[in-house]
Amino acid sequence: MRLKNKVTVVTGAGQGMGRAIARLFAAEGARVVALDVNVAAAQETAGSDGLALEVNIADSAAVNAAFDTVLEKFGRVDVLVNNAGIGSVDAFADITDETWARVIGVNLTGAFYCARAAVRAMQAKGTLGAIINTSSTSAVSGDGPAHYCATKAGLMGLTRCMAKELAPQGIRVNTLVPGPTNTPMMQGIPEEWAEAIIKGVPMGRMAEPEDIARAALFLASDDAGFVTGQNLAVNGGSAFI
Ligand SMILES: NC(=O)c1ccc[n+]([C@@H]2O[C@H](COP(=O)([O-])OP(=O)(O)OC[C@H]3O[C@@H](n4cnc5c(N)ncnc54)[C@H](O)[C@@H]3O)[C@@H](O)[C@H]2O)c1
Repeated sequence: MRLKNKVTVVTGAGQGMGRAIARLFAAEGARVVALDVNVAAAQETAGSDGLALEVNIADSAAVNAAFDTVLEKFGRVDVLVNNAGIGSVDAFADITDETWARVIGVNLTGAFYCARAAVRAMQAKGTLGAIINTSSTSAVSGDGPAHYCATKAGLMGLTRCMAKELAPQGIRVNTLVPGPTNTPMMQGIPEEWAEAIIKGVPMGRMAEPEDIARAALFLASDDAGFVTGQNLAVNGGSAFI
């Protein structure tokens, strides 16, 4: 039980990596709070022992209200997994102002809103917490649409700054960097793209959500007690971060 009684907020917990992370963390003893725009899916993830909240992470007030609810119910926040994210397949010159704002709003600003609320809760209770920001190998490989790549690179910078500033308070912040992973986000792409992606992975397959969840567990747990400000890539060797 590596997360016994650790109050853990997982964003985008309704499916894909977020669901795998929430389930593994619950099996390791965490009290899981599943946030998602899709509350029915989050409820399914959280089960009867966890708490599911309908939250659009791009909405600052909704995020703050969700963390207030967590504090009321559990009294503390130990771990935040900033996992929720959205993609889009626009060519660079076709990215509209609206699409740009939507992707930045969820992937980067939404992650900031959640991290800020988590840090405020940790500071209020003197919690030695852990925050995990979910980037992507796209941040460094440039494979992916520009708004998406920009947000994922932005998260790496956010992590580094937060890690340095918060280390003296015992709050660790790391970036999880998945490569292509077999989730609903990827299942929507054309088959020939998927084949090309797999060809680029030395280990010859996409990650499964559980591969990512095990790395998240390491970063969240005391096993990573002296690890902060780092990028942990889980990608079968497709890019060295
Ligand atoms: N799948 C991949 O190949 C891959 C690779 C690298 C990084 N990532 C990143 O990993 C994370 C999880 O990806 P996934 O593949 O599991 O995605 P997914 O699309 O399968 O699931 C994302 C979940 O986030 C939720 N969500 C979306 N917008 C939200 C919002 N505004 N507020 C709250 N919840 C919201 C969705 O409802 C969904 O349940 C994302 O940040 C993604 O960018 C994915």
